[in-house]
Amino acid sequence: MRKDRRQTKKLGGGIKGLVVALVVLVICTISLFSTVGLNRSSDEQLQDINVDNLWATAASGDWRPSSAPRSYWLPPPTESNGYLRVRCNGGLNQQRTAICNAVLAARIMNATLVLPELDTNSFWRDESGFPGIYDVDHFIKSLRFDVKIVERLPDIQSHGKKKKLKALQMNPPRDAPLSWYTSMALEKMKEHGAIYLTPFSHRLAEEIDDPELQRLRCRVNYHALRFKPRIMKLSNEIVNNLRAQGHFMSIHLRFEMDMLSFAGCLDIFTPKEQEILRKYREENFAPKKLIYRERRIIGKCPLTPEEVGLILRAMGFDNTTRIYLAAGELFGGDRFMKPFRALFPHLENHNTMGPNEKLEESTRGLVGSAVDYMVCLLSDIFMPTYDGPSNFANNLMGHRLYYGFRTTIQPDRKALAPIFIDREEGRGAGFEERVRQAMVRTKLGGPHRRIRPESFYTNSWPECFCQMSPKNPADKCPPDNILEVLESRLGSESTDDADTSRTSNRTDSRRI
Ligand SMILES: *[C@@H]1O[C@H](CO)[C@@H](O)[C@H](O)[C@H]1NC(C)=O
Ligand SMILES: *[C@@H]1O[C@H](CO)[C@@H](O)[C@H](O)[C@H]1NC(C)=O
Ligand SMILES: *[C@@H]1O[C@H](CO)[C@@H](O)[C@H](O)[C@H]1NC(C)=O
Repeated sequence: MRKDRRQTKKLGGGIKGLVVALVVLVICTISLFSTVGLNRSSDEQLQDINVDNLWATAASGDWRPSSAPRSYWLPPPTESNGYLRVRCNGGLNQQRTAICNAVLAARIMNATLVLPELDTNSFWRDESGFPGIYDVDHFIKSLRFDVKIVERLPDIQSHGKKKKLKALQMNPPRDAPLSWYTSMALEKMKEHGAIYLTPFSHRLAEEIDDPELQRLRCRVNYHALRFKPRIMKLSNEIVNNLRAQGHFMSIHLRFEMDMLSFAGCLDIFTPKEQEILRKYREENFAPKKLIYRERRIIGKCPLTPEEVGLILRAMGFDNTTRIYLAAGELFGGDRFMKPFRALFPHLENHNTMGPNEKLEESTRGLVGSAVDYMVCLLSDIFMPTYDGPSNFANNLMGHRLYYGFRTTIQPDRKALAPIFIDREEGRGAGFEERVRQAMVRTKLGGPHRRIRPESFYTNSWPECFCQMSPKNPADKCPPDNILEVLESRLGSESTDDADTSRTSNRTDSRRI
């Protein structure tokens, strides 16, 4: 799906104390090497579901996240082949993967990357762009061993006049191979000095047969892309509020108009609502004959809020469970939420949990998405309700895996559909036990092999993970002083580069 749509709601109230709790930041960045304390053991999962265990992280099998280079890694060349400009479209997470791809493209082209432009989407009326969402200095500094990044295209002298370097516009094929960048695109870049790739999303193949390049993707996604302090602070306050009463779960409740009309699961709605969904479908997606029962039985229908509640209840979560809902505007109104709320009354979202400052502006569009992203990342358990074409859920699952195998409940909709249908048709005997059996068989957040169509951005194991005593030498964790090694290499290869003096004596608490 193209968007992760967020909704903006009103929130009143005064201003809470300005406690800049950068704990989130610290948690996110330090000691990604340290092993996580509370591990579930894997055999416990096989027998039955023990909810208490789910609040802890999954068994790591001695794997730890690591995206530092493990073989010889050259610093970016002093002589660049030209400038690479990209325009990332879509929602927060579609843009995020596009930014990772842009860094990769610049790296293999020996190009200088111009800070990626983020589409200002008219729907969200969001004008913030990259500097409004991410920490620009941190981004540039974090990637200094990988690519040279500038904030904008330089001016050039032409006939004694200063003017902007003009980038040649190009449209890369979807999932283009690396060779498209090192041949076609590079040729034009050398010819024109700069190229401009637009639109730029899913324009570089995800499966690349080079673990060092894949690790670069993880360095961008999980280290270099850090939200601005304002977003981190807001997210942290929400997390602290939720944590004040113990652990909490986050759910990405993808029960929104665009997703429902895309999925074509209409029968549960009133004729009027069906009309709205049908119209949206006609206007936005390719025509296709979609029959509700068939769609549902193959797992293509998003879970309803009630189904989400029934799954959690069957797994053993009780009505004291605190749930943070990351969701846009739920379609179909409150009648879908009511049965869920009856099972789980402690429901919150970024409007009910935020600090009492005016959230109306700050949670609009990408910023609201970013806050939801951080809260879902930090929650003890995360549950996406639709993992199909949802960049939000997919990227979060990948980030939580990297963040230390944090529990993700990923319902197998195909396995659950017949159980729900039986219940609706009066064959509800053994319902909870059947749901539990279906859920026991799902992955709950531990390291696991990536099987198509699972994306690299959803599961970067094993490339971005390492072991201290590995069976396979390629999985060995890089030495602890890897940053110093890279730093000295960068210093010796580009002594005339003024930029290195700025960074050469930085101690970095971050491990990559
Ligand atoms: C980029 O630079 C490296 C090191 O200087 C070189 O080996 C490689 O061939 C270059 N690639 C391109 C596409 O220019
Ligand atoms: C939660 O469930 C218990 C029974 O298990 C019930 O007594 C209690 O009223 C419920 N609480 C709420 C807020 O629904
Ligand atoms: C680097 O910084 C440390 C601590 O600030 C300082 O003690 C040291 O002298 C510096 N080294 C160089 C080479 O500037």
